[in-house]
Amino acid sequence: MRDSLTIIIAAVTSIVFGLSNACASEASDLYDAHCSACHNLGVAGAPKIADPDAWNPRVAQGNKVLYDHAINGFTGENGSMPPKGGFVELSDEQIKTIVEYMVSRVN
Ligand code: HEC
Repeated sequence: MRDSLTIIIAAVTSIVFGLSNACASEASDLYDAHCSACHNLGVAGAPKIADPDAWNPRVAQGNKVLYDHAINGFTGENGSMPPKGGFVELSDEQIKTIVEYMVSRVN
């Protein structure tokens, strides 16, 4: 009885860890596929991924503003962020996940 309980706990634990890993890699895959063209190198005035000078003032606006700008697009002093980076088929939740990933990359 004890053994089977241990096995069940181990199985549940590995499923939970597997899922959270899947989410993290999904976010970076989505970023790579849809946002990296501009954000990896800072093309067209896009804030470069992981660049604190480019991101700190943006992060200071709070995530709600960042989500809104990423989902609906916005034009700032540097250029234009297209709604959802031009990939309107992405859900709002997917965009939020990617924005969280981008914010987490700021050093
Ligand atoms: C065609 C180029 C391009 C693509 C593709 C693109 N972006 Fe952007 N993004 C920009 C530019 C340019 C800005 C900065 C505009 C400014 O500040 O003047 C920006 C700014 C942002 C910001 C900061 C908003 C703020 O309030 O400062 C976020 C967050 C963002 N992009 C998320 C994304 C996400 C998520 C994707 C992929 C789904 C994406 N971007 C794809 C060009 C792009």
